[in-house]
Amino acid sequence: MQKITVAKGDGIGPEIMDATLSIMKAAGARVEYDIIEVGEKVYLSGNTSGITKEAWDSIRSNKVFLKAPITTPQGGGYKSLNVTMRKSLGLYSNVRPCKSFHPFVQTKHPKMDMVIIRENEEDLYAGIEHQQTDEVVQCLKLITRPGCEKIVRYAYEYAKLYNRKKVSCFTKDNIMKHTDGLFHQVFKEIAAEYPDIESENWIVDIGAARLADTPEIFDVVVMPNLYGDIISDVAAQISGSVGLAGTANIGETCAMFEAIHGSAPDIAGQNMANPTGLIKASVLLLNHIGQQDVAESINNAWSCVVEKGIHTKDIYKEGSSKQLVGTKEFADAVVAHLGQKPTMLESTEYEKGVSFSMPKYVRRKRSNKVLKGVDVFVDWPGSNANELAEKLTQLNNDVSLSMITNRGVKVWPEGFEETFCTDHWRCRYEVKNGSAASSSAIVDLLSKALSSDVEVIKTENLYEFDGVRGYSLGQGQ
Ligand code: NAI
Repeated sequence: MQKITVAKGDGIGPEIMDATLSIMKAAGARVEYDIIEVGEKVYLSGNTSGITKEAWDSIRSNKVFLKAPITTPQGGGYKSLNVTMRKSLGLYSNVRPCKSFHPFVQTKHPKMDMVIIRENEEDLYAGIEHQQTDEVVQCLKLITRPGCEKIVRYAYEYAKLYNRKKVSCFTKDNIMKHTDGLFHQVFKEIAAEYPDIESENWIVDIGAARLADTPEIFDVVVMPNLYGDIISDVAAQISGSVGLAGTANIGETCAMFEAIHGSAPDIAGQNMANPTGLIKASVLLLNHIGQQDVAESINNAWSCVVEKGIHTKDIYKEGSSKQLVGTKEFADAVVAHLGQKPTMLESTEYEKGVSFSMPKYVRRKRSNKVLKGVDVFVDWPGSNANELAEKLTQLNNDVSLSMITNRGVKVWPEGFEETFCTDHWRCRYEVKNGSAASSSAIVDLLSKALSSDVEVIKTENLYEFDGVRGYSLGQGQ
């Protein structure tokens, strides 16, 4: 018996969780439940995190968590519990199988069968945001080498284990050469270790377009957090419905399984919700804890029910569906079909006891890091960059003003009148002649700025790592 933590969640959560647990029980899942409370009630009791210490203790001690959707109350500074959980528990990998169940669930893509593996902890979801001037707010996009290595290796190990033939990587490294560039670079490095698996890289925009149009050309797709968040919902939707997908959030020690949809308050308490997303999450969970026999049996019974046309309202179609059922009746039908195999949909056959262990991240030798200058960000309400440059060149010392950009585009020297400027200016100071800058030159520059009434809102040091520039050029530079 393995103890797992269960949260019934909000809205339709309790109905679909009861349906799922009844199927797991009937299928002989060798699990015991530790039921915890997370979500709306906890938020409204004044706990802005949505989770109590006791709930954390349960998840951390059981290490496996089946979670129904929760409602995040609007406004009031409540933090997304999903994001908090993924990051606090180090659940770096989000795995979302998106497969069509044609012809029983309507889709334009009957052959699609892909798994999206999304980095789950970093990127813009670091949630580090600041308003810096009247007109400008920023969000830091953090991409790390350990984060990239872990997720890309996970995608390849997953592909190897499940006999998938190809891993595709989606990035926007033609624009974000350093952040997405690192993700792509790590993808190339790790792909080389798996010569038997085909590897390809797509620029995310055209990749997403192809994925929405011709999803059957994709197999395993790995991507940074934000693209993965958006594209995995698109993939689930075009496979038939977002209501049908389950997802796994996997970390080094803990794992959390859930449906991808929300708490659907509009249909809560009406025995109308489709429990499939959470049932599929339970299948992923059982596979994760080594109970492939139970996972297989539930998945096959689910397929039997769907191919017999026993459908909940969201997928019911006059003509092709045979029987309209509620949440509970759907679960009862799955229970009644345990032990049977589908005749038209593919039956599931998990290899017994399959799992893979990921190597621990090994930090690389530190690079030779050389300071080359500083980007000083200035709040200035003017509009003529030449005027600002005149003021700022007076601050020159060992580092001197080489460029001003506004929203990334170069406006000095030789800017265009047509360029629209906000009150947020990046002013780049660099050393001359390829030498190294000193920290004291930067401190001196900032103290001169202070006495010259230049409002510095932040600085970013400019470094070279082993002789390679670690910062972007200005657009137009
Ligand atoms: P939602 O996914 O709850 O609902 C969108 C639409 O899909 C609704 O019309 C709903 O009735 C329908 N739907 C969703 N699941 C269904 C199911 N199993 N069977 C039949 N129909 C289903 O998204 P929405 O309305 O944007 O969010 C509602 C709440 O859920 C919000 O508080 C949101 O923060 C939360 N949410 C929670 C998530 C989680 O806990 N993992 C994920 C997404 C949203």
